[in-house]
Amino acid sequence: MQGLNLPQHIAIIMDGNGRWAQRRRKPRIFGHQEGAKRVREVVEAAGEIGVKALTLFAFSEENWARPEDEISGLFGLLRHYLETEIENLHKKNVRLKIIGNVARLPESCRKLLIEGIRRTSGNSGLVLNIALSYSGRTEIVDAARQIAKSVQAGDLVPEDIDANLFASFMTTSDLPDPDLLIRTSGEQRISNFLLWQCAYTELYFSDLCWPDFRRSDLMLAIESFSSRHRRFGKIDATAPQISMMTEPC
Ligand code: FPP
Repeated sequence: MQGLNLPQHIAIIMDGNGRWAQRRRKPRIFGHQEGAKRVREVVEAAGEIGVKALTLFAFSEENWARPEDEISGLFGLLRHYLETEIENLHKKNVRLKIIGNVARLPESCRKLLIEGIRRTSGNSGLVLNIALSYSGRTEIVDAARQIAKSVQAGDLVPEDIDANLFASFMTTSDLPDPDLLIRTSGEQRISNFLLWQCAYTELYFSDLCWPDFRRSDLMLAIESFSSRHRRFGKIDATAPQISMMTEPC
């Protein structure tokens, strides 16, 4: 990874588990099982490379509309992941964090998550942030409601509200915004994920379904990121000035 501009925070929409399984004439949960193996692989790789934070979209607020057996299968996989992986994460200095509506999760998962967060709270390596029952719009609405309450209580005045204050009310306020968002399965959408945080995030779309996304594919995404010029709405003062008449965009 030497010489590469490493993203500090990578966010991943792990899409395509269901299609991957269906193409193999297997039940959708088989795709999620293989997907959970890729979670292990990618978390390990991100930690080893020196990425500071990895946010994984594991279950959206909209996913509650899926069939009951798929939902319980997914939370079964999450339970198994937490039961078998927390000690390993702890040994690797990973700190677990959760965003989303945790109160809606099954009690057994909630307990494991709380225990995992407590166990790893002192770690200083990779932050593994799992988005569960998460919606970017709900997160923004919740932040607006909290700010309104602070104004009502007299702790803030409307003139205090700016982008920095707003960001401090988001559930990721302790993390840098994602530098790189990866979505697998060929779909090119953000799908209500980290809407506030991804304002200037570089997007990378892979045609691979998530169960096929390996460590080497993460490296390809990072290489692509590393070759991009980020301008954050400004101009790149280091780039050579090229005549508009002679060079295509
Ligand atoms: C999207 O694929 C994937 C999900 C909704 C679940 C992701 C869950 C895992 C990878 C496994 C468990 C997670 C952890 C953190 C251990 P999809 O089902 O929407 O695929 P499709 O678009 O092909 O139907």
